[in-house]
Amino acid sequence: MADWKKIDEITKVWIKEAGERIRTALTNTLEISSKSNANDLVTNVDRDTEKFFINKIRETFPNHRILGEEGGGDEIEDANGIIWVIDPIDGTMNFVHTQRNFAISIGIFEDGVGKLGYIYDVSRDELFSAQKGEGAFLNGNRLENLQETSIETAIVGVNPFWLTENKRIDYHLLHKLVKDARGTRSIGSAALEMASVAAGWFDAYIALRLSPWDFGGGWVIVEELGGKVTRLDGKPLSILEKSSLLVAKPGVHEVIVNKYLKEFVEQKI
Ligand code: IPD
Ligand code: CA
Ligand code: CA
Ligand code: CA
Repeated sequence: MADWKKIDEITKVWIKEAGERIRTALTNTLEISSKSNANDLVTNVDRDTEKFFINKIRETFPNHRILGEEGGGDEIEDANGIIWVIDPIDGTMNFVHTQRNFAISIGIFEDGVGKLGYIYDVSRDELFSAQKGEGAFLNGNRLENLQETSIETAIVGVNPFWLTENKRIDYHLLHKLVKDARGTRSIGSAALEMASVAAGWFDAYIALRLSPWDFGGGWVIVEELGGKVTRLDGKPLSILEKSSLLVAKPGVHEVIVNKYLKEFVEQKI
């Protein structure tokens, strides 16, 4: 059986070290390139940070598998065993343009079940962490369980792009939700928007298309606090699949699924 406490301790040390390397790298010129389109950015620091974790994990836990955004990990087709789901820098556009509001996100799963979760806000030196069944923490201070709330008093994280015509959702569905919520915010890092729900700063976060490395760490953290983490149609997420995402406090989650998004159908493409 895996020693989760030991894995937790060592992961936190690696994350802090990686954060220090990223802060140092920011004092040098970044090498920036594009991936799927001109706005899909990646830098030498994204790649180096992913390599840093892969080398550490391979050396220390040779039986564990790795799913990483920049492709240096394993080809993963099933959820068996222990899998590290890593986004070395979530919010690369923020990293490149503003050097803040980006995070390292790591989720560690066993047979598809989240055991450990981390989101490290590098520029603020804020580490969100959770171990399943043992609580969730911000810089070692225990976070409070998420309480029920209503949409009228809710702050909802949403990317404005999804409020314009797009192929994933009838965007009119989101207009009513945005009108009824107390306010909306957009950070530009899915991991930090999930961390914001965990901390109680946001009451919900909505995204139409994310990858497992975007939500792996936050999934463990928010669920540990009694929050709900699903697809936008309320169905369960998978660590093997891209999907939509709805992260919310209890109460708000049900209202968003049943009142505002009942006509939403998940697009598989
Ligand atoms: C992106 C961020 C962003 C979300 C994008 C993601 P990346 O991750 O989480 O907030 O809207 O869909 O791809 O590429 O910066 O790791
Ligand atoms: Ca990316
Ligand atoms: Ca990401
Ligand atoms: Ca990334």
